[in-house]
This record gives sequence, structure tokens and C-alpha cells, in this order.
Amino acid sequence: MSVDANIDICEVGEKKPRPADDELGFGTIFTDHMFVMEYDEDTGWHDHRIIPYGPLSFEPSSAFFHYGQTAFEGLKAYSADDGRTLLFRPWENARRMNATGERLCIPPIDEELFVRAIEELVALDRDWVPSAPGTSLYIRPFILATERYLGLKPSSSYTFAIIMSPVGTYHGRGNDPTKIYVETEHVRSIAGGVGAAKAGGNYARCLKAEVRAARKGFHQVLWLDGQEKKYVEEVGTMNVFFRIDDVVVTPPLQGTIMPGVTRDSVLTLLEDWGVKAQERRLSLTEIADAHRAGSLQEAFGTGTAAVITPIGQLQWDDLTMEINDGRTGDITGRVHETITGIQSGKVVDRFGWTTEVPD
Ligand code: COI
Repeated sequence: MSVDANIDICEVGEKKPRPADDELGFGTIFTDHMFVMEYDEDTGWHDHRIIPYGPLSFEPSSAFFHYGQTAFEGLKAYSADDGRTLLFRPWENARRMNATGERLCIPPIDEELFVRAIEELVALDRDWVPSAPGTSLYIRPFILATERYLGLKPSSSYTFAIIMSPVGTYHGRGNDPTKIYVETEHVRSIAGGVGAAKAGGNYARCLKAEVRAARKGFHQVLWLDGQEKKYVEEVGTMNVFFRIDDVVVTPPLQGTIMPGVTRDSVLTLLEDWGVKAQERRLSLTEIADAHRAGSLQEAFGTGTAAVITPIGQLQWDDLTMEINDGRTGDITGRVHETITGIQSGKVVDRFGWTTEVPD
């Protein structure tokens, strides 16, 4: 179906009460409407529509229930002081959703349709975009394989939907530095696997280690590479950056980590500021040596949901590494302020990252 075709809109009869901005957590409250469309091999993606938010119904034999052939994305809409509603780099999410789809044999979605569906949905539920500092409207596009078949093969039918949730901070701890446990048994991803895909199973496999770390009093785990368990990969659901000797280092995109939109934005900002940054493998031994030498200056995680999260402590077996005395570092703070400033229209967007949601 062509991108020019209308998106049918069926509005809710009665709108739901909206929560106050200062009551917002993450991902538990959903707006009045959602976008849905289906795919089959004869028609392609079709029946794109906005309808009241509510249950989707699938037969128990649908492929996604069994084999996890699913993809998802995450991006946010922000309320600017001048009344505009802004999206942050939605085209990157469209591209990444199709990259995930390509890896999982899910048919591509027209990127223009992806962005237009988001714009129309946000425009309809614009009242739900919170405006207090640190709040936003989290947008969750996702695809499910729906063929009713218990054999393993790429599904011949899919449902794509977009739901939205007004959110505050992801971890519910504001911007306080987080305590990280280095996971040395489980791995998140291996070379040739699906670590760079935004697929549900990538996240489910992380749960056990996260739960174990939480029992020990840590907020997140730091994932090591799947082969040697030596090099840093990601932290919790975020990309990770370390500042050592005035150089900011982050693991390279080699197929095992998420190509984060926030990660990419941080690298662009650092280059713009003339801060030396490197995308390269970084071993825990190098981090521990830097800590011992006093040159481990700061560390932070980046992600759409978690934005910029300072790391205050790293626990690697018996070694406790306190980073910057458990305080937010200079670069971490500057990156956080600039990115959230651009997202909410307070800082001039010299990079063309924000797009305004039309009426
Ligand atoms: C995001 O940061 O948008 C994600 O998709 C991570 C998810 C666990 C909330």
C-alpha cells in the first residue's frame, strides 16, 4: 500500500484520564490510541489504521508465541517550551527496525510510512506528551509474526503496531549514578548472533543475570563479549562509554551490540566539542588498570529509555571500582544536558536531529 494512502482513524469515544507529570514512571500507562497494520504475502503491508488502544487478539498457534520472530523499536516525543512537539531522529528507528527485520526474515516497512504513522499517532494523542523536565512520550513500534503454523520457518503474515506511554525516568532513580555488576557467566550476544537486532529474545536472555545482580544490590549488569569474556559490550539495556585519560572510549559496532541512536548522537557531540573519542575494544583489565592508576575518570550508559545514565560503581568479582567518587562526571553531565536540551527544544539543534510533529 502506498505511503500516500490515508491512515484510517477511529477515535476513542471517551478519553482516559491522564496522569500528572510528577507521577510518571516508565511504560505502565498507555495513551488513547495505537497504530496497527497487517502484512500478508499477497497484499504486503495493508490496512494501516489508528484505533483505540486495546488488546490485540492472536491465535495460540501464531509463530511469535513460539519462536520469538519479533522486532521492536523505542523512540520518544518531547514537548518543547514553545508548544512544538518534537521527535528525536525517528528515521534512525525506521532504518534500525528494518535492519532487525532483515536479520529475522521479517519483511521491511516503508520508512516514510513508519515515520508518518508515528507522526499521525502522536498528533492525535498530543495531549499525552508530558512537559515536565525529564518526561517524554515513549513510542514503541513492534512487529509480530502471526502465521498459524508450528513448524519453524519465516512467517508469511505479520502485525505491526505502535503504542505510546508517557514516561518519567527509566530507572526511577532520577539521574543518580548507577551501581553495575560485571557479569562473568552469562553473555548477551556472540559474533554472528543477533546482538545488534532489536529482538525480544535479546532482552529475555538478559533477565537472569539482571535478577542475580539486583539480589546483590546492583542496578544493572555490564555485559562482556561472548567469546573471551574479556571485552566490554553493553551495560543493562544501554551502550556504554568510559573516559580514561581524557579519551572517551566505547565498544565498536561489530554486530554484537545495539547500534544505539543515543550512542551515535553522543559520538557526534564529542567530535563537535573536540573531545577525543574512540570506538574500539576495551577490556576490563584496561579499565581496572586505569582505575588503579587514577585515570578512569567517568563512565556512563546511553539509551533511548535511559537517556544518559552515569555509572558510579563497577563490581568485577572482588574488585570494587568507585568511579569519580560515585558522582556524575563532567562529560556525562554535559552530554546529558545537551542531548535532553536538543530533544526538548531548549538547545539549538545544529544537527537536524529533531523533527516537529505536524498538526
Ligand atoms: C530503549 O531504550 O528504548 C529500549 O528499547 C530498552 C527497553 C528495555 C526499554
